[in-house]
Amino acid sequence: MPVHTTLTQRLGLSNPIVQAPMAGGADTADLVAAVGEAGGIGFVGAAYLSPEQIAERARAIRARTSRPFGINLFAPLPAPEAPDAGRMDAAVAAIARHHVDLGLPAPGTPALGADGFAAQLAAALDCGASAFSFTFGIPPADALAAIKARGMLLIGTATGVEEAVALERAGMDAVIAQGAEAGGHRGSFATGPGEVDFAAGLVGTMALVPQVADAVELPVLASGGIMDGRGIAAALALGAAGVQMGTAFLTCAEAGIPEAHKQAILDARETQTRVTRAFSGRPARGIVNRVMEDIADGAALPFPLQNVLTRPMRTAAAQQGRAEFLSLWAGQGVRLARRQTAAELMTRLVDETDAAVRRLTGIT
Ligand SMILES: Cc1cc2nc3c(=O)[nH]c(=O)nc-3n(C[C@H](O)[C@H](O)[C@H](O)COP(=O)(O)O)c2cc1C
Repeated sequence: MPVHTTLTQRLGLSNPIVQAPMAGGADTADLVAAVGEAGGIGFVGAAYLSPEQIAERARAIRARTSRPFGINLFAPLPAPEAPDAGRMDAAVAAIARHHVDLGLPAPGTPALGADGFAAQLAAALDCGASAFSFTFGIPPADALAAIKARGMLLIGTATGVEEAVALERAGMDAVIAQGAEAGGHRGSFATGPGEVDFAAGLVGTMALVPQVADAVELPVLASGGIMDGRGIAAALALGAAGVQMGTAFLTCAEAGIPEAHKQAILDARETQTRVTRAFSGRPARGIVNRVMEDIADGAALPFPLQNVLTRPMRTAAAQQGRAEFLSLWAGQGVRLARRQTAAELMTRLVDETDAAVRRLTGIT
């Protein structure tokens, strides 16, 4: 790929393709290593991993490749206010109906676990990653200083220009511009006064990337709805220094999601995803299914309580191959997803980007 950017130079990559961190198991060591071997960089979404699991995943990656990889955490959020008893009972009852269908005992009242950020951060700092990215906001200054002291490339996620500027001021080395098309959780943290206005933060990648690129000096990674080389060439034309892709990697052989999730992506159309709070309490884009239709955003508990509440349902659904109860995270580019290995996808992305750039420059 004839594209060298500040990102490829800083990380020693041969193409500006980032495999998105995907907390929940998609980003296996096999996937991350294959992307690295193909000249891009794969990230581990470590938000739901214990410190031991972070170390173990990093060891598994290192056993497969010496190429760079990245690590990702959620920026710590303040604990949510405890929901009143009526709201809690209604949320538990809504999930209890699905437990019956899955043959599970009735769900208990969810409780917040201990805050594990400090221990996760310590494990992530020691894991040998070359880059560290965050979503959901800006972590505490001492965490950022510790990452920088290790020489890791520090990356934040923005869904609007104000967030990108705030990330630059906090000392990030690069910023991800996450468009509305993106699969998974929204990274929004400051798009409006007071409570985060997630709806206002749903700006399409095409509109977001050039506005962010104009507003910050940092390299920008375009993210959301990018599935092939045409999308990569478009993102670079909009001023991005690279792309961060999630959904395209979910149907790779190495992706660690349930087969029912892969098949749902391969069967889905571009009109079939929505942003929902039903699974975790925080807005995230996935393919519409029974749980999403059943649980209105206002009925979900605040993040991460709803995530704790729905976990047994999602685990059983994965074991039973029941897509109607899974969080089918996916972006709007679903129709472009294919079954392939990560190496095949990476080769295809590089070739397609070259072809798109040649087409635009009139060299065919
Ligand atoms: C299954 C899944 C899990 C995700 N988990 C994370 C995560 O843990 N951390 C993060 O920063 N972004 C996460 N994302 C968002 C991605 O970083 C990225 O913004 C998104 O995948 C881009 O849109 P695309 O899926 O259309 O390529 C996730 C996305 C998906 C699809």
